[in-house]
Amino acid sequence: MAKILVTGGCGYIGSHTVIDLIENGFDVVSVDSNIRSDHRMLNAVKKITGKTVQNYQTDICNLQELKKTFDAHSDISGVIHFAAFKSVPESVEKPLSYYHNNINGLLNVLECINKYNIPNFIFSSSCSVYGNTTELPVKENTPLEKAESPYARTKQMCEKIIQDFSVANKNIKSILLRYFNPGGAHHSGLIGEIPQQGAFNVIPILIGAFEGTLPQFGVTGNDHDTPDGSCVRDYIHVMDVGNAHTKALQYLMEDRNENNCEVFNIGIGQGVSVLELIEAFDRATGKKLPFTIGPRRAGDVSAIYADYSRAKELLGWNPRFDVNDIMATAWKWHLSGYQLID
Ligand SMILES: NC(=O)c1ccc[n+]([C@@H]2O[C@H](COP(=O)([O-])OP(=O)(O)OC[C@H]3O[C@@H](n4cnc5c(N)ncnc54)[C@H](O)[C@@H]3O)[C@@H](O)[C@H]2O)c1
Repeated sequence: MAKILVTGGCGYIGSHTVIDLIENGFDVVSVDSNIRSDHRMLNAVKKITGKTVQNYQTDICNLQELKKTFDAHSDISGVIHFAAFKSVPESVEKPLSYYHNNINGLLNVLECINKYNIPNFIFSSSCSVYGNTTELPVKENTPLEKAESPYARTKQMCEKIIQDFSVANKNIKSILLRYFNPGGAHHSGLIGEIPQQGAFNVIPILIGAFEGTLPQFGVTGNDHDTPDGSCVRDYIHVMDVGNAHTKALQYLMEDRNENNCEVFNIGIGQGVSVLELIEAFDRATGKKLPFTIGPRRAGDVSAIYADYSRAKELLGWNPRFDVNDIMATAWKWHLSGYQLID
């Protein structure tokens, strides 16, 4: 059973990926300081999979502490690196904190991968690396435009660091997964995204508007060059994102890669408009969400969605869920009151 070290295993995407890894026969160890998560996420993982995943509550920016985890597990055959800060608005307010955590964290993880000769590495990148691109659908070789936030810049910088590292370390194979817009939760309703202050994506905003904890939902513009005039994004179910990591690891472990650093888009390949998203939300809740239509938001790209044919052909990965599954599972998780198992 191959052992995988996951950084950020108690986080939203990390915990869902851990489930997929276990269901595909991997053994998993997590390193997560829980600065943005709850360690009890792994209790839910145990309930779902029957497997206990050990978490080392370590700040990956502390190299000496991080090394202790690698020392304790000499048989790690791959690392998946999720641990990072991810809020675009927070990164605008606290750029140094983002550069410190996201860049130093990666440097330390790479240092350990090198020191302990770990042959396989997967990195959580983001479609935000494409910036304000107009090329649709976005392919992996679509030129990267200027980053729109310090967060996006950390992802662009991390990608470059890994590419340079790969040139110097031919024996280590890396994959950069550029996720589009992850959403939804595990179908059990036992885990999902715990809303973080300032890290609001559109689904928590819809839920907050529905519950009255946030202002009425406002659609930003109905005059975009899209079929219904509202912005179009590529929403991908978090369990599909998780499964992409399993497929990426298998690809590297079976030596199917052509280069020692490869990039894959992870999206559903279809644009979903904000108005369609609201319709899917209405189907999930069984009620109509009142909303307003306001002006466009400065800097908003009208539409962005992925061409994921590389992941389909080379990794054998295919999204299994659609926007209705995303909304139904996000709503189920919300109805649980975000209750984790003690
Ligand atoms: N969720 C999204 O919309 C999205 C989209 C594209 C890319 N990503 C990337 O995917 C990764 C995972 O995102 P997520 O949504 O699961 O976020 P998350 O905040 O739920 O999980 C990140 C985890 O990393 C941990 N962490 C952060 N800094 C750490 C440190 N220095 N040491 C140890 N642990 C630390 C946090 O406690 C948390 O558990 C991130 O790198 C993020 O940038 C997320």
